[in-house]
Amino acid sequence: LVAVRSYHPKVIDHYERPRNVGSLNKSDPFVGTGLVGAPACGDVMKLQIKVDEETGKIVDVKFKTFGCGSAIASSSYMTERVRGMTLEDAGAIKNTEVAKELSLPPVKLHCSMLAEDAIKSAINDYKRKRAAATGTVSASA
Ligand code: FES
Ligand code: FES
Repeated sequence: LVAVRSYHPKVIDHYERPRNVGSLNKSDPFVGTGLVGAPACGDVMKLQIKVDEETGKIVDVKFKTFGCGSAIASSSYMTERVRGMTLEDAGAIKNTEVAKELSLPPVKLHCSMLAEDAIKSAINDYKRKRAAATGTVSASA
């Protein structure tokens, strides 16, 4: 109970009513999948984006997180945040923003880091797929 009470109401809200839970079709050529883990605790987060090639914007986003309340809240928040964004803007979101929004304590900072890693990994996967499909060399690192 002590541990539960230490969570900020915003974390509890995302934890109880997580937004955009689920999966997108991995084999869709316009879907990028990020799968990341936190070595410190073993929690795992999958975050997927579907991109409109014309506009370069994220038109759909889903996540599945096996982890603590802060990790679930961080990924839920991230999915709400990136919907409609360009890949560039979405890739620039820092975990510190997520942590601040959810009022995460220092010990839970790595949970928000998972969300930053997951969106970056999903964007890279999308770019890798597009580069392979169009035969161009990806400019991203
Ligand atoms: Fe157990 Fe994150 S350390 S759920
Ligand atoms: Fe490890 Fe939250 S405790 S992700």
